[in-house]
Amino acid sequence: MPSSRFRETLISTGTRAAAALEALLRRIPAVQRRLEAQYETLLAEIEPSLKPYRNEVPAYARLPAVGRSRNDILAEMRRLAERETPRWREGFVSGAIYHGDPDHQAFLSQAYAIHAASNPLHADLWPSIARYEAEIVAMTASMLGGVPGVCGTVTSGGTESILLAMKTYRDWARERRGVRHPEVIVPRTAHAAFDKAAHYFGIRLVRIPVDADFRADVAAARRAITRNTIALVGSAPSFPHGVIDPIADLAALAGERRIGMHVDACLGGFVLPWARQLGYPVPPFDFSVPGVTSISVDTHKYGYAAKGTSVILYRTEDLRRFQYYVAADWPGGLYVSPTMAGSRPGGLSAAAWAAMVSIGEQGYLEATRRILETARRIRCGIESIPELRVLGDPLWVIAFTSTRLDIYRVLDQMAQRGWHLNGLHHPPAIHICVTLPHTQPGVADRFIADLRDAVAAVRREPRARGGMAPVYGMAASLPFRGVISDLLRRYLDMVYRV
Ligand SMILES: Cc1ncc(COP(=O)(O)O)c(C=O)c1O
Repeated sequence: MPSSRFRETLISTGTRAAAALEALLRRIPAVQRRLEAQYETLLAEIEPSLKPYRNEVPAYARLPAVGRSRNDILAEMRRLAERETPRWREGFVSGAIYHGDPDHQAFLSQAYAIHAASNPLHADLWPSIARYEAEIVAMTASMLGGVPGVCGTVTSGGTESILLAMKTYRDWARERRGVRHPEVIVPRTAHAAFDKAAHYFGIRLVRIPVDADFRADVAAARRAITRNTIALVGSAPSFPHGVIDPIADLAALAGERRIGMHVDACLGGFVLPWARQLGYPVPPFDFSVPGVTSISVDTHKYGYAAKGTSVILYRTEDLRRFQYYVAADWPGGLYVSPTMAGSRPGGLSAAAWAAMVSIGEQGYLEATRRILETARRIRCGIESIPELRVLGDPLWVIAFTSTRLDIYRVLDQMAQRGWHLNGLHHPPAIHICVTLPHTQPGVADRFIADLRDAVAAVRREPRARGGMAPVYGMAASLPFRGVISDLLRRYLDMVYRV
């Protein structure tokens, strides 16, 4: 038996070699032409669902010569929104919409409108926004351990919080330890935002395996540490399977090696503290764990704020200073910017603050109770279908697979019944991320009934064509991974086509 380190090296070398070979093949002009034609065909199939308004509303590829009336514009916007709202409001969507109640949304819109003109880049012009942001950070820190000295900033979302944490560790390790080739160790299941951070900031991302329950393998993390390692990462919980990594063990390892320990609680930061109070088994994951040095947590998910805010927390102000950007010799004047963007929408911070203060501890506790009870019913329902198997031991993000059926066909069948669920791979699976719209009466039962029907349909006709199943099938096979990446880039091109 080769050692696990040797096996990991072998697999990663094999993966790199196959990727290099594939990249080479894709550069051959004849292969490239064939692929481009295939991309066009595949994307043409999904284009109508992404551009449903093409023949219904004017398409502006340039400015209208004369501005339209405001009433006319608002009426058009309402028409489009009304078409899109029922699906999420009626609870057909996994994640994406976390609150969705019309009164709550109207309240957030009012808070935004009051501060729509503000820009926290100019804290002196809008000290109100500086107050909201400071209090958002303080309230979030108090929820996640209440440890004195913990500080942070408001960002635009989970991805920005993660990007900033990784940049912070890179700059910290460069200055304090002279690390020139930084590496970050993340579980295989950590969010793609860590890949993005590594890509943007020249960090080598070292992916470690997860165990049978999809939790990070701490022994593999220990083996992966080198003198270039700047931080370890754990999720609480992970996006794909909704399970919490062994944060205390990872943090102990990070503390022992004097490196950073980032906890990605984007999804769980506003749920787990309340779940614990409700008696659910929540392992330590926040700043109460020695060794945890930063946490990302999203106000725009279970904080029930409008989309566009998150919080990145650090254990010390010393660490947070590595996140800031300051320019002392720019002709435009003395410049300071805490996050990635320069100018920022103060209205969104105002709305996030308003959400937190209006919901309060009791509101979050009650929302968490409803979500976890609904999730438990959904999980039991999935487990009662013999063809399906729940992955790991999740609380409210429930991933499931099948050893008997093509799970992506089940995903397609659910889509035909109106459901917008998430496809996962490695291993092939689907998940539903339970949010408040699912807690409405009848939604969980409808989900289970539709899932039973979907499974029965796949059993009857296992080889139906179309949908996402063939795309996921291709993505799972190593030689096609680069092709899928190319296809995804062309998908984005299409999204931006007028
Ligand atoms: C665990 C986790 N981390 C990070 C993110 C990224 O957050 P965002 O989409 O707000 O950038 C998500 C999003 O679902 C997530 O679930």
